Amino acid sequence: MSRRFLVTSALPYSNGRLHVGHVAGAYLPADIFVRYLRSRGDEVRFICGSDDNGVAIEISAQKENTTPAELSARYNRQQAADFEGLGIHFDIYGGTHQPEFTELHNRLSQEFFRTIHDNGHFVKRTTEQLYDVKAGRFLPDRYVTGTCYHKLPDGTPCGHPQALGDQCEHCGNSIDPLKLINPVSIVTNTTPEKRQTTHWFLQLGRFQGVLADWFSLVSLDWRPIVTNFALGSIRQGLPERAMTRDLTWGVPVPLDDPDAKGKVLYVWFDAPIGYVSFTAALCQQLDGDWQRYKDWWQDPDCQIVHFIGEDNIVFHALIWPAMLLGTQFTAKEIDARGSNYTKPKEKGFFQLPSNVVANAFLNIRFPGKEEEKISKSRGTAVWIEDYLKSFDPDPLRYYLTINAPESQRTAWSFDEFVERNNSELIATLGNFVNRWQKIVTDDFGRKVPPFDRAEDLEKQLLAMIDALPQEVADDIEATRYKAALGRIMEAFRECNRYIDTRAPWTSRKTDAGLCAATIHACIQAVRTLGVLLEPFLPFASEKIRQSLGVSGDEWKWPQATKRLAVGHALGPVPEVLFRKLDPKEFTEGPNPS
Ligand code: MF3
Ligand code: ZN
Repeated sequence: MSRRFLVTSALPYSNGRLHVGHVAGAYLPADIFVRYLRSRGDEVRFICGSDDNGVAIEISAQKENTTPAELSARYNRQQAADFEGLGIHFDIYGGTHQPEFTELHNRLSQEFFRTIHDNGHFVKRTTEQLYDVKAGRFLPDRYVTGTCYHKLPDGTPCGHPQALGDQCEHCGNSIDPLKLINPVSIVTNTTPEKRQTTHWFLQLGRFQGVLADWFSLVSLDWRPIVTNFALGSIRQGLPERAMTRDLTWGVPVPLDDPDAKGKVLYVWFDAPIGYVSFTAALCQQLDGDWQRYKDWWQDPDCQIVHFIGEDNIVFHALIWPAMLLGTQFTAKEIDARGSNYTKPKEKGFFQLPSNVVANAFLNIRFPGKEEEKISKSRGTAVWIEDYLKSFDPDPLRYYLTINAPESQRTAWSFDEFVERNNSELIATLGNFVNRWQKIVTDDFGRKVPPFDRAEDLEKQLLAMIDALPQEVADDIEATRYKAALGRIMEAFRECNRYIDTRAPWTSRKTDAGLCAATIHACIQAVRTLGVLLEPFLPFASEKIRQSLGVSGDEWKWPQATKRLAVGHALGPVPEVLFRKLDPKEFTEGPNPS
């Protein structure tokens, strides 16, 4: 039975290039999952695009002396090219402020806001905020620094002069920017003043009970990093959050209220709606009707899966589900439900995600240095654009999967990347695909040889191989991509041990029948393994497919264990699957953008 999935990857901000940390977090695991679903024959839409609105984009544009429109268009194109280069194919790559998408995006975002507003989930409040007179704008928390006002455990003042507007890195306390001593705007380096402003606050606390109940139903097989965070936040209580901002770059607040004038939606309000508006744009392209997005978002039979980095958990596991519930229920209805969630069984209501798959961050380790955070400003990153100029996508896909930060942080290390490429991709995987090629060419004319002389060893090998598609599928379905790929690699190791034992390079002269059965077993093993590799290493998988002379239609999960008939003509000897790497090929240190 084919299933239906809508899969999204977090929308990258369009004010910078992509690095390996992004790819390991929200994009590569999603691509693996989508490729797997397609291979199985499930119906999938894979959605991404850039997150173009908000103050971060505006400030980056100012720094680069350009407009937010130009900046975000440029990075949107660059990011789309990076993804393509890695073999990460979205069905659509939109952008929340890209000209082709803005109309639909603003329309849906405004509709969301108005519905949630009319359902009574916002409270309008006037508060004080820091205002940068020179820049003529209110300052979001992160754009203010100043001296910390907290006390240390021993009672003395922290006094850290460089406390950030949201957190003090010295004492670790969270910061209210209005309380900072000697606040400074990082935009203009001037002293901001306090001004009053009015915003609409989403009453998240109201959704706590329903969200907790929803978690208890769905999250059993979610990753602990997501569930622990979400349940912990609910236990502490969900504070209200302003969903509007004093900015011009963004989606205008769609209210007939003089206080809404000149304000836009908070970027984290409209960004996840980008998933919906890009789906709508895709439906317009494919079906000529953008409203068909409802077939994916409002159908109880479609599963919605969001792939994100760990810093996005609060938005995808709590705020976004609250927004979705807020479109369906009024405040009174939510109150009446108390702690009782029921999944809408009928069409026409936004469905909550079936899974939110988050990864921890990827750190980086330069040769001879300590592990450190990836940082754009310090240049401690491996940029995808640079990587693709010199290297193939599969080794990166391999390393970032086998070393994925699925449950905790891991680090990119150049030495380990090279080492795994050479010892695992080349010496284990590539080697097994190659070591019988000469014999099948010279002795069997590149046709699958007979299997009559097979003994227990051959049968055991193929029994192990036959069990693999289900085992790998179970891992993938449970979001264990690292384990899934590990299993495939373990099977390659097993295959190498098998061929070492049989030594067909010897038996070809002493026992041609056994040699034939050995080569036969190797071919069938590679036929299965090649299909299972496709979600992980699509480029290598394609080369293997051609070398086996198998059509694309037969290169799918359900056919993975379908044997190639005796006499089946193989394709040409495969091209080199992986190139040997030398650690010296990498620059030895930070490489600022
Ligand atoms: N731009 C955000 C980030 O990079 C992710 C946005 S995901 C979406 O952290 F839900 F808002 F789309
Ligand atoms: Zn402090």
